[in-house]
Amino acid sequence: MFRATLAKLGRIVVTGGSGKAGQSIITELLDNGHQILNLDLVPMSRQGVHTLRTDLADSGQVFNALSGQWALTEPFPEGLPPPPDAVIHMAGYPRNMLVPDNELFRSNTQGTYNVCEAACKLGVRKIVVASSTTVYGVAFAQGDANYSSFPIEEDHDVCPTDTYAIAKLCNERVSRGFAARFGADIYVLRIGHVIGPDEYNEDTFYSYVHEPELWKVHGWAYIDSRDLGGMCEAALRKDGLGFQVFNATNDSITNLSPTRELLRKLFPNTPITREMEEFEAPLTNAKIKRLLGFQEKHKWRKYFTLWDKKPGIAPD
Ligand SMILES: NC(=O)c1ccc[n+]([C@@H]2O[C@H](COP(=O)([O-])OP(=O)(O)OC[C@H]3O[C@@H](n4cnc5c(N)ncnc54)[C@H](O)[C@@H]3O)[C@@H](O)[C@H]2O)c1
Repeated sequence: MFRATLAKLGRIVVTGGSGKAGQSIITELLDNGHQILNLDLVPMSRQGVHTLRTDLADSGQVFNALSGQWALTEPFPEGLPPPPDAVIHMAGYPRNMLVPDNELFRSNTQGTYNVCEAACKLGVRKIVVASSTTVYGVAFAQGDANYSSFPIEEDHDVCPTDTYAIAKLCNERVSRGFAARFGADIYVLRIGHVIGPDEYNEDTFYSYVHEPELWKVHGWAYIDSRDLGGMCEAALRKDGLGFQVFNATNDSITNLSPTRELLRKLFPNTPITREMEEFEAPLTNAKIKRLLGFQEKHKWRKYFTLWDKKPGIAPD
């Protein structure tokens, strides 16, 4: 068991490691014994992790960063150092309205293209790419876009209409193309709304629980930032799946209604295509559990405390 675990330790490049998701992912990977190099525009202070300030939208910088030193003290190798064992690509603008739309599209798509191209050409065999559940496209559409069926699984139609989500879908296609051309494993994570450990008792989760009719846009799902780290670790341990897309969400629906009851009430005419767990998140993580063996550790009910704002509501 110990030997099997050791055999999977590696030199892992994380992009966007200074950000919200990246920091949690790095914590999880360090806890599992990996060596990390962080590529980001901004530095991060973390013992034992070097940040190489890198603009991923610049291909030359990406090729250099993936084929260079990991620490100032590391001796120069003869020839090129070996490629990283894996790249976990989180960097990018995480939503619209941070920069003008065209700049978001340019930077997020060019960055992902550059990471996939450089990693594959340098011989990296495993890449994890951050996409988003926004690709399902129920936000920002003209009129009232709805899911066509439940649960929302990875083969559900995707039709994003906003720039951030369109760029994410482009990145999924880029990832698929590179996986097919190089025979690499590229696992795309359609990440749900990321909740940090300190955010369970803030406005978003309060509204998730007490106003579920507002949260079609998140598929009544969330991802704990630490569990996202667990998903990346699970992705590192599983090989040979080629190109895959996984919803990256936690197990449970983000309110107190049994799933079928809520969906029947809000969308009485939308088909439910299979049996679902009583409190399964409609934007389901069943595939990542089945194929990567992911197991969540951070159920929201363990941390949420704002039950008493509405009398009569209490946890099980
Ligand atoms: N936060 C969420 O709820 C959420 C939901 C779905 C998907 N995602 C995706 O997860 C990833 C991480 O999101 P986050 O919440 O940690 O965002 P974040 O803004 O906290 O972190 C992103 C990091 O990427 C870096 N970055 C951006 N552009 C870069 C570039 N050109 N070169 C190098 N570094 C660059 C930023 O400096 C930042 O540190 C993103 O791809 C985002 O789209 C996030």
